[in-house]
Amino acid sequence: MQFKTIEYNKETNEIVILDQTRLPAEEVYMTLKTVDDVYHAIKNMNVRGAPLIGVTAAYGVVLAAASGDRADIIDAADYIKSARPTAVNLAWAIERMKKKIDTAKELFKELLHEAQAIEEEDQHACQKMGEFGAALITHNAKIMVHCNAGALATCGIGTALSILYTARERGKKFTVYSCETRPLLQGARLTSWELTANGIETYTICDNMAASYMAEMNLVLVGADRIARNGDTANKIGTRGLAIIARYYTVPFYVAAPISTFDFDITSGNEIPIEIRCDDEVRTFNEKKIVADKAKICNPAFDVTPAELITGIITEKGIMKPPYEKNIRTLIGDVK
Ligand code: MRU
Repeated sequence: MQFKTIEYNKETNEIVILDQTRLPAEEVYMTLKTVDDVYHAIKNMNVRGAPLIGVTAAYGVVLAAASGDRADIIDAADYIKSARPTAVNLAWAIERMKKKIDTAKELFKELLHEAQAIEEEDQHACQKMGEFGAALITHNAKIMVHCNAGALATCGIGTALSILYTARERGKKFTVYSCETRPLLQGARLTSWELTANGIETYTICDNMAASYMAEMNLVLVGADRIARNGDTANKIGTRGLAIIARYYTVPFYVAAPISTFDFDITSGNEIPIEIRCDDEVRTFNEKKIVADKAKICNPAFDVTPAELITGIITEKGIMKPPYEKNIRTLIGDVK
């Protein structure tokens, strides 16, 4: 990758992130100096994607640890955790850091070490998902993707897109169809940017073109923000629609996600909190108003794809197939 999504600088106690709101027009880096900066960067999606949000939050706790006592650091951690509700990686990373706050003898040093461990584990998970998933890419395949589950969403080579990078390294030829992903256009702005920068042939399609192209596809590959114990999966709004269309055309539909994206505390997707974002994201386009003032707006950032529509879930431990309830129970046993 020719970019780094996040870097913590111990000398200055600052976090530098690639500002994803400015891509693809400008590759601009942004410095986060305070806990407030971290909260707003996550909330405003300067930094985004479930695994990357988790790593950013962990370093946010490190920022707080440089000056605060234990109670201050816990308050800061809880504040950062409240920035976005759906991606469980955020809560997971914060809870992991809070456990350290409770037990650490050398607070700053141990919290920094924990944040670095979360970052390294993410890189490793991306690598492994790529290796397991690459076997799914057939020669000359056409693959539909949604939102951005790539290197930009992680500290490594991505979740869903790691599979494409690894397959390409293994000499496979394929073409990607990337849904633009309204309203914030992560597919159009981010996925097309990182795939083409890495030499992968990519068509960007409007979301409402997916059904027209689905019959030609060999595979749909998406990421995840939270996976319940029965395999129901929250991901960027529009994912469920793709899964339904894929089932109609009998196209395999795979989710790629690290184990940190599983929420072992919830039994089904009904319990996943769905983030509702501000009206303006839908009401305006390129800062121009595109919706009549009197019209009301719906803007859920995520939807839940029922487990029964998911062909398999690619994790750093391998490809999980149904029955998810039973196989996720086994996974819980393996990781606890
Ligand atoms: O709102 P975003 O851009 O943070 O949503 C991101 C997604 O939905 C991704 O598909 C998901 O986080 C997986 S990223 C590896």
